[in-house]
Amino acid sequence: MSDLARTARQRDADDPLASRRALFVLDDGVYLDGNSLGALPRSVPGRVEDVVRRQWGALRIRSWDESGWWTAPERIGDRIAPLVGAAAGQIVVGDSTSVNVLKALVGAVRMADDARDEIVVDATTFPTDGYIAESAARLTGRTLRPVRPDEVPAALSGRTAAVLLNHVDYRSGRLHDLPSLTAAVHAAGAIAVWDLCHSAGALPVGLDEHGVDLAVGCTYKYLNGGPGSPAYLYVRSGLQDRFDSPLPGWNSHAEPFGMREAYEPAAGALRGRVGTPDILSMLALEAALEVWDGVSIDAVRAKSLALTDFFLECVRAYVPEGRVESLTPVRHEERGSQVALRCAPDAGDVMKRLIGRGIVGDFRRPDVLRFGFTPLYVGFADVERAARVLAEELR
Ligand SMILES: Cc1ncc(COP(=O)(O)O)c(C=O)c1O
Repeated sequence: MSDLARTARQRDADDPLASRRALFVLDDGVYLDGNSLGALPRSVPGRVEDVVRRQWGALRIRSWDESGWWTAPERIGDRIAPLVGAAAGQIVVGDSTSVNVLKALVGAVRMADDARDEIVVDATTFPTDGYIAESAARLTGRTLRPVRPDEVPAALSGRTAAVLLNHVDYRSGRLHDLPSLTAAVHAAGAIAVWDLCHSAGALPVGLDEHGVDLAVGCTYKYLNGGPGSPAYLYVRSGLQDRFDSPLPGWNSHAEPFGMREAYEPAAGALRGRVGTPDILSMLALEAALEVWDGVSIDAVRAKSLALTDFFLECVRAYVPEGRVESLTPVRHEERGSQVALRCAPDAGDVMKRLIGRGIVGDFRRPDVLRFGFTPLYVGFADVERAARVLAEELR
């Protein structure tokens, strides 16, 4: 056994989160793609079976009340809230991240005065945010200004209505400085909207602490909600009265069953709801969130950094020099929970071979091997094995 393998074994033995692994369905491979689709928590299949057979099959329409279906979006929002540093009453779950980006960004611009004629967006963003920001600009009669995250402070002015940023870059795993960028947006008098897809469940976000205005995120990555599980929308309590959703469906009406002709928005985070919630996915997510009971997000962050550090150390030790180049920031303050390795010209083939050997990461065009580290179920021995197999494939 190598020194690194021995170190890995010891660190797994000392890991306070190691027992969480038993809460997930895993195989004998190494799953490093939880930043795309989290693994299945063991609590989910039984819950889904109950929701389908008893709540739907037996109780039918009664379940909207008796099984808490109607209030699920805000109840599950409150369950996610502590994971992203938010007090209760500010998050609703539902729709996809893309749809929530539209709600958040148009809602943000509608809070700004008419003289603010620009929307600033991260030019390196995950594509959906860019597409939707462009549409939000057209819908609100503003101009879209794509800039790199490090250029955002210089791009802000009295013309800025709202700024849409990613907390962690999906390609490189770079963590952007949410507190200082939010403060800069506020200093310019604009509204800050954050996409938390790659940070929620992997590191502390501190939405309330840092005064974030609106935020969105998915639940199928580090929150393990399952394929296509609903996303969420955060609207800071102080802004909720001013939040004017571009999708004012009947579920966000002050009196949804009043069936009124005129729209009157509900109070609070409920304004972020649209139509009938996707109950099956939503209640699968609710069951999945049980793995967080008693977990501190600071402990998750500490382990995440230890895992990515250790992976980079193993890659340096095992992989032939020059064969890969890490795109992941060295500084912890700039690192999310993934490692991206440039591997030209054969990253796609290399990832296929790794997956064939049970080491599951993903490939991002044109030449990036991406590995996500989910601290609740990835251990140090997994990390050492992944780097060792990668080295074998690259030799
Ligand atoms: C940063 C980011 N935003 C948005 C999305 C897409 O969200 P959805 O498919 O839920 O609309 C993703 C998907 O991976 C993402 O990584």
